[in-house]
Amino acid sequence: MAGKRDGWKSRTGFIIAASGSAVGLGNIWKFPYVAGQNGGAAFIIIYLVLIFTVGFSVLLAEQAIGRAAQRSPAAAFRTLKGGLWPVVGYIGVLTAFLILPFYSVVGGWTIAYIWKTIAGASMDGAAFGGFIASGGITIAFHALFMAVTVLTVRGGVQGGIERYCRILMPTLLIILIILVVRAVTLPGAEKGIAFFMTPDFSRITLQSVHAALSQAFFSISVGMGVMITYGSYIGKTEKLPGDAAWIVGIDTGVALLAGLAILPAVFAFGMDPAQGPGLTFVTLPAVFAQMPGGYLFGTMFFVMLSLAALTSAMSLLEVVVAHITDEFDIGRKPTVLTIGGIMFLLGIPAALSFGAWKEVIFFGKTIFDLMDFVATGILLPVGAIGISLFVGWAFWPKAGEELAGEHGAAPVWAPLWRWMCGIVAPLLILWILIGGL
Ligand code: TRP
Repeated sequence: MAGKRDGWKSRTGFIIAASGSAVGLGNIWKFPYVAGQNGGAAFIIIYLVLIFTVGFSVLLAEQAIGRAAQRSPAAAFRTLKGGLWPVVGYIGVLTAFLILPFYSVVGGWTIAYIWKTIAGASMDGAAFGGFIASGGITIAFHALFMAVTVLTVRGGVQGGIERYCRILMPTLLIILIILVVRAVTLPGAEKGIAFFMTPDFSRITLQSVHAALSQAFFSISVGMGVMITYGSYIGKTEKLPGDAAWIVGIDTGVALLAGLAILPAVFAFGMDPAQGPGLTFVTLPAVFAQMPGGYLFGTMFFVMLSLAALTSAMSLLEVVVAHITDEFDIGRKPTVLTIGGIMFLLGIPAALSFGAWKEVIFFGKTIFDLMDFVATGILLPVGAIGISLFVGWAFWPKAGEELAGEHGAAPVWAPLWRWMCGIVAPLLILWILIGGL
């Protein structure tokens, strides 16, 4: 884009927006259950170690690339090194382009569930199955979710994304804390707290380490250039490691609080914490239906979930929009509208995957599952490996100098970070990739 590049108004604004991207459905429905299944506190300890070492390193790698180049992913690699490296950026943009359509479908479900809770509609398993199969209604809510995402991103980095995240993220956090207090004070909450928090090292297997690692990377949104794009709007004087630590800390804190908000309530009412959409859209409504004040808490829960999905969706749209406006001389507003429209259309087959197009199967998967698999199962890890290798080899030692910003020297641990990015992270991500195939 010609002219002055948009940027964050403040350091806090960047941290909040990047946390908004990281905090999503993964923190709220996935982490609590995966932790409980894999040894509770023992899993949490492994998760914390992994996310603050490897996860942190890759997140920092993305920020360093973005800030150094001040460009969207593909252009960033071209500016810093050229050769085949821009392919890594293109993979990232493609990943974001593929994820947002189906992410928006699920975002639409969360909005619909705010409404259903308020209206006191039936929300059992059959009702959920009927709802997601309905086609027209889910497409309408997908359209609504996409429209809200477009409206926020249209306002720009500072005037849109940062401005809304500054309101939405604290709201999310306040709701979450209220839900935690409600859940842990229910009679019978101890069983859920124990499921989540009791360390059981006998349940730690290689597979649970694998689960912790995949969850860690997914949770902080690395691998598709979101943090390159957001990092490209950071000022030249800012020190990057502190920001990355904050983002990882907020993301992890929300995941832990989500565990304390959900599991004690599920156990207090003798329910089974099944994983995935079932827990969120079937078990939890049943829990809220029995809970004193459940009408209010249920509504708050789905508002919180919608906010988490919305701030993540903004970052996905921004990756593609930044790419188009950087590569071609097109303004932000027409780009946001066009891309938003295309993503809406791409989401329609994903929405129909649960109903009319259930039988449309490619490679043994519905369209929804196929988009998810190609994007998060293949492209995301490949992109993350490319990003890490770039920082460890092609962009070294400049990457180290980038950490401190214009006025500082590289931190003493920069060489350690280099080997994390150059060797440890790529091997571990390769392990995730192979395990997922
Ligand atoms: N981090 C998000 C979550 O926890 C999911 C996610 C992964 C994501 N990669 C992303 C969200 C990129 C936005 C952009 O649910």
